[in-house]
Amino acid sequence: MKAIRLHAFGGPDNLSLDEVAPPVAARGEVLIRNRAAGVNPIDWKTCSGGGASAFIGELPYIPGWECAGTVEAVGEGVSDFSVGDEVFGFLRFPEAAGCYAESVCAPANQIAKRPAALEVNAAAGLGLAGLTAWQALHDKAGVQAGQRVLVLAAAGGVGHLAVQLAKAAGAYVIGTASADNQAFIASLGCDECIDYTSANLSVSLRDVDIIIDGVGGATAIEALGCLKPGGLMVTLPSVTAAEVAEAGERGGYRVLGIRVEPNGTELAELAALYSAGQLTLSLAQTLPLAEAGRAHQLSASGHQRGKLVLTVA
Ligand SMILES: NC(=O)c1ccc[n+]([C@@H]2O[C@H](COP(=O)([O-])OP(=O)(O)OC[C@H]3O[C@@H](n4cnc5c(N)ncnc54)[C@H](OP(=O)(O)O)[C@@H]3O)[C@@H](O)[C@H]2O)c1
Repeated sequence: MKAIRLHAFGGPDNLSLDEVAPPVAARGEVLIRNRAAGVNPIDWKTCSGGGASAFIGELPYIPGWECAGTVEAVGEGVSDFSVGDEVFGFLRFPEAAGCYAESVCAPANQIAKRPAALEVNAAAGLGLAGLTAWQALHDKAGVQAGQRVLVLAAAGGVGHLAVQLAKAAGAYVIGTASADNQAFIASLGCDECIDYTSANLSVSLRDVDIIIDGVGGATAIEALGCLKPGGLMVTLPSVTAAEVAEAGERGGYRVLGIRVEPNGTELAELAALYSAGQLTLSLAQTLPLAEAGRAHQLSASGHQRGKLVLTVA
């Protein structure tokens, strides 16, 4: 099969399209004929030697944690999936999952069936980003109807899903994005849209129950002042999580980091919301698998609207 491989940590030029042996489904796994792979910031961070690079084992390494495709073979002990099922998943994180490839093996409890309403490229972008938004809002923050939720980077891969999931939970949602993305985040359901390039958040916004922080660093620290007493920030970028948590402690704010976890049951809940018309994934761009390096460059620019996805022939 064809797969993108990283042969040495570094930039996009270190990725190459190689011919490799396809994987074989072990007990509890399915083999997926992959049709698309989602791209996330953790992909280029890991390839450059940061991110999850400590967990991926020896190089060469096939990047990618999100996939969507058709079940081609079923390993021993798998009863929930059959050959021919259309599925999508977020696999094995933070260990290597190898989704930038024509075939991928997935633990059966880390995938879900793809409903007809969820187009294959959108499904490929949903796993990591959607579960991050879900786990931040529900598992970490316990979002409730009527709460005020602020999403920093509301136009991004995680943020645009977090806005919709918070709305589906009945929250009042405030999103931040640049001027170019104000109409986009309004279309997702934001009750208030803030242009972060011209507004000082800690001055203009108060009484927030939950902040989902997709930016980190100084932006996150400044936003802490928007929380009401007892409010909570879930900060996503792990590189700055410790400094944001320390600032929270100094100011008397609750701050939690997160590491998104594979979860097939929660993926099925996302798929159900999708079918019900309460969730949609916006594709920033789709590129062919061979252009994975270009996709990493685009992701690293930090201004994608929605998700980048690689299509697999
Ligand atoms: N801990 C975990 O388990 C976990 C899981 C997923 C993601 N993450 C991390 O969370 C972060 C967000 O992930 P993502 O996939 O959503 O990233 P992304 O899709 O690359 O985010 C891009 C978005 O960020 C927005 N943005 C950039 N600077 C901003 C600012 N100062 N204020 C508001 N918005 C800003 C951009 O909007 P404009 O173009 O309008 O500026 C763009 O839409 C990344 O650092 C990622 O690594 C962590």
